[in-house]
Amino acid sequence: MLKHTTGLILAGAVAFAATAEAREIKVGFIAPKSGGAAQLGDQMEKGARLYMKLHAKDLGGDTIKLIVRDSKRPGGPIAKAAAQELIAREKVEILGGVIFSPNAMSIAPLVTAAKVPFVIMNAGTAFITKLSPNIARVSFTMWQAGYIMGEHAAKEMGCKTAISGYTNYPPGKDSVAAFARGFEGAGGKVIDSIPMGGPREAPDFTPFFQRVKDKKPGCFYVFVPAGNHAAGVAKTYLSLGMRKAGVKLIGPGDITQDTQLQGMGKAAVGVITAHHYHADLATPENQAFVKAWKAAYGAKSTPDFVGVGGYDGMAAVFHIIKSAKGGKITADSAIGALKGWHFNSPRGPITIDPETREIVQNVYVAQVYEDKGMLRQKKLKTFEAVKDKCKELKIGRCGK
Ligand code: PHB
Repeated sequence: MLKHTTGLILAGAVAFAATAEAREIKVGFIAPKSGGAAQLGDQMEKGARLYMKLHAKDLGGDTIKLIVRDSKRPGGPIAKAAAQELIAREKVEILGGVIFSPNAMSIAPLVTAAKVPFVIMNAGTAFITKLSPNIARVSFTMWQAGYIMGEHAAKEMGCKTAISGYTNYPPGKDSVAAFARGFEGAGGKVIDSIPMGGPREAPDFTPFFQRVKDKKPGCFYVFVPAGNHAAGVAKTYLSLGMRKAGVKLIGPGDITQDTQLQGMGKAAVGVITAHHYHADLATPENQAFVKAWKAAYGAKSTPDFVGVGGYDGMAAVFHIIKSAKGGKITADSAIGALKGWHFNSPRGPITIDPETREIVQNVYVAQVYEDKGMLRQKKLKTFEAVKDKCKELKIGRCGK
């Protein structure tokens, strides 16, 4: 009898343990799902869901409930309200996503107060990680590409003068500041810097680009947010005959985003950018990633850097969950787990700097070329394990 009872108790304990162990972890995901930037939100979500699909077994019975909220616009208040709702009502354990910097900035105080870890999968203004100890970023900072592009333009492209044009909001200001620092540090001179409207509507670039053409710099460095802005840049450059006039178009890879590239046509051929990802990277990790992407979303679909941000962001979320080993996920434990985390991303090896909670990654200088009627990007140079220069040099709010 005694033996029998013990057996029952044991069986009950095992059954209890099994149900107690399998958890559903709620992850809030904020991204534009409507309006002009919907394509970016779609890319990031596709990337995140692809990682979830390919690695579902890694959570050993636990599952993720991804709760997606539409941030609609770059501005801030809608994303902030969404984060508030996800934290207070849905009680998400982890928050992630976010394309636009002002949205990430408006969410920062909420994740500090609620002690929720926030994994930024795109927003690139360098000082954002300074706004809360509960933020880790797996995307990029505008300084990583901007500074390297500046040095490259002066040292390797023979540009003695440059003009920068930028979408007038924090990542744009960051990008051109980084470019100027790299370019002038290597002996070049930035002779003008032109704000080209806000992030919400893609402007007609003609008057801005005409001003550049008239001043005839060697290089024209442009930052616009990826998506519908980027599509107009190469076209305006071509239609104004700027290449023929001897002005070289350069920028961060936001202006040669893989998903926009074919639509840019010949206008983009020759454009040189610096960035942490393009879909033509010839590494086994990236080739496997692109193949899995096409298998999931169709042969004509391609990932771009925003998709990789979602994919790697979800890899970070998985790492947080696995590190908790079934225990409670807190901001401290989650961010602690991400400090020093390594991952072999499609973009190359990445690490989260334990000092800054910022991504450390390769940056590639690449050039657009035509191959059998398709536009592709050819890697010219690799800069390995690039940290955020804005924090290294303690510039402005990065130094505080
Ligand atoms: C940003 O708002 O931080 C942002 C958006 C789109 C980009 C890059 C940065 O392509």
